[in-house]
Amino acid sequence: MATVNDNYLKLKAGYLFPEIGRRVTAFAEANPDAPIIRLGIGDVTEPLPEACRTAMIQAVEEMGDRAGFKGYGPEQGYGWLREKIAAHDFQARDCEVDASEIFISDGSKCDCGNILDIFGDSNTIAVTDPVYPVYVDTNVMAGHTGEINDRGEYGGLVYLPITAENNFTAEIPSQKVDLIYLCFPNNPTGATATREHLQDWVNYAKMHGSIIFFDAAYEAFITDPALPHSIYEIEGARDCAIEFRSFSKNAGFTGTRCAFTVVPKTLTAKAKDGSDVQLWQLWNRRQSTKFNGVSYIVQRGAEAVYSEVGKAQTKALIDFYMENARIIREQLTAAGIQVYGGENAPYVWVKTPYGLSSWDFFDKLLQTVNVVGTPGAGFGAAGEGYFRISAFNSRENVTEAMRRITENFKVA
Ligand code: MLT
Repeated sequence: MATVNDNYLKLKAGYLFPEIGRRVTAFAEANPDAPIIRLGIGDVTEPLPEACRTAMIQAVEEMGDRAGFKGYGPEQGYGWLREKIAAHDFQARDCEVDASEIFISDGSKCDCGNILDIFGDSNTIAVTDPVYPVYVDTNVMAGHTGEINDRGEYGGLVYLPITAENNFTAEIPSQKVDLIYLCFPNNPTGATATREHLQDWVNYAKMHGSIIFFDAAYEAFITDPALPHSIYEIEGARDCAIEFRSFSKNAGFTGTRCAFTVVPKTLTAKAKDGSDVQLWQLWNRRQSTKFNGVSYIVQRGAEAVYSEVGKAQTKALIDFYMENARIIREQLTAAGIQVYGGENAPYVWVKTPYGLSSWDFFDKLLQTVNVVGTPGAGFGAAGEGYFRISAFNSRENVTEAMRRITENFKVA
């Protein structure tokens, strides 16, 4: 008799965003005329930059004759894209990252989960609370946790609360952990990390032989020039960090799919026999075996992000969403609602008014003003009492959603 991976049975409800989707669909079916505005999942709404579209169209044309046709590409991504990323995203910031250390993929979500393939099962794993749920759920699926408790915490994970009191940046744990997930600018709180804070993490990781998984999917939204965009801006990070990046949010590729992961060749972890093993080599082996790369057409589209015109167009997209974030912050603050984030990130982290639980606020917003956000509790126990509002939408929808919320939920 075939058996299942029992670890999946430990997972609580469905994955957060499909769960929200189900509730919204049920509401929409019962209320077909409700003018629902979705500020829940961080999915982009504005069209792909013209530079990317032009490059993709040209790539399609190339594929139309034998000379230009491409079959399987390199599993790690085409060299011309990796070179551009290395030059523009890293070397331009004085980060020592070589093109060969960049692995192109179809998404950071997948990479954050897949990276566990190359790590052992006995690592102690730390996540922040609240946290992007993929980090937790993929560890549950891989059997790295115990059962879930009443607070929604899995046994075996080390939770590092990020709260208003610590400015939404996790304190360095007193105990030793082997794998640490950090996300800055942060999803869901929109908080950022200073160089000093990241240096503390790198020092900790180097002292304990830990690996930091640094999710920088939202780095393009940083407006404060003092903030680091990459963990490799921090001294010593090449010896202890893997970085995840994406074209989803900066260039609108959520549907087009292109991302990349940086695994420095200097990074090692221990084998059972105590020897040091290069993680680059393992990730390269994993990708070559389980992945056939991102399509040539999409990679050409991603490459266009680095052209002068592409840079200007993606900057305009980012500025557009950040203006939405500013409107959300300003309107909610004026209505007496406490907000965080939204200054260097496309997410605004809202203290729920009237002491409502985050799912109660979700239901109230959906039912009374037909606005969808994401309940903080969906990101972890410490997210209770908070609510995430995404700035990814049209100006019209954001303005209208803020009008409805502020008129109905003003705090005296
Ligand atoms: C989110 O809303 O948190 C993001 O869209 C999730 C993701 O990028 O996978």
